[in-house]
Amino acid sequence: MGDVALGVIGGTGLYALAGLEDVESHQPVTRYGAPSGPVRIGTLDGRRVAFLARHGEGHSVPPHLVNYRANLAALQAIGVQQVLALNTVGGIGERFGPRVLACPDQLIDYTWGRVSTLCEEPGSEVLHVDFGDPYTPALRTKVLAVAADEGVVLVDGGCYGATQGPRLETKAEIARMRRDGCDLVGMTGMPEAGLARELGLDYACLAIVANWAAGAGPDPDEVITLEDVLANVAAASSGIPALVRGMLAR
Ligand code: HPA
Repeated sequence: MGDVALGVIGGTGLYALAGLEDVESHQPVTRYGAPSGPVRIGTLDGRRVAFLARHGEGHSVPPHLVNYRANLAALQAIGVQQVLALNTVGGIGERFGPRVLACPDQLIDYTWGRVSTLCEEPGSEVLHVDFGDPYTPALRTKVLAVAADEGVVLVDGGCYGATQGPRLETKAEIARMRRDGCDLVGMTGMPEAGLARELGLDYACLAIVANWAAGAGPDPDEVITLEDVLANVAAASSGIPALVRGMLAR
């Protein structure tokens, strides 16, 4: 399969990687089961990259049912060591309005009932991995440096609050998350980041703000629609191919 320099996991509205050439598809079955869909391995500017749509290519897997373990293990099985997670989110903090790209440095996990560790496998070792910095600092540094080089505007830092979904949050839930220190809200950031750490993968998040979270924007009664979400993701994602190419070039 050759060296796969980077694995990219796409979120809502991001089901393929633009410009990928010579694509081979793999559907590895891992000890944790099958991933959300095929892993597409292709070439961008001569370097190999793997892409996996977190919710499946037809967006059929809701956030709480994604087999996060299988997705990450499938990427690891083909040789991926660095994972760039693309996560569509709502914005809470004022610097995180619709169409902003951000590279968060912290997270708070509000999810429940998801398989969130590798330790449940019979015979597996109990791991208490360090998770003080949930995103790999060196990989974040690289993302930020590449963004600066490529002229992709990216907010450095922010706290990602991972909610259960699939429904969106109430205004009171978002107000609580703001008090907790969350800047962004999404449904897929955990357990993915924690599992990546347990697997020993380097992992960074590129959050794509699709909407103001409930009650967080200038119009507190704004209703969040899927059309707005998809339009904002499409607009905000224009810099992602340059970013991925830059990551591969380093
Ligand atoms: N909340 C949670 N997840 C999301 C949102 C949101 O407002 N927008 C996109 N993903």
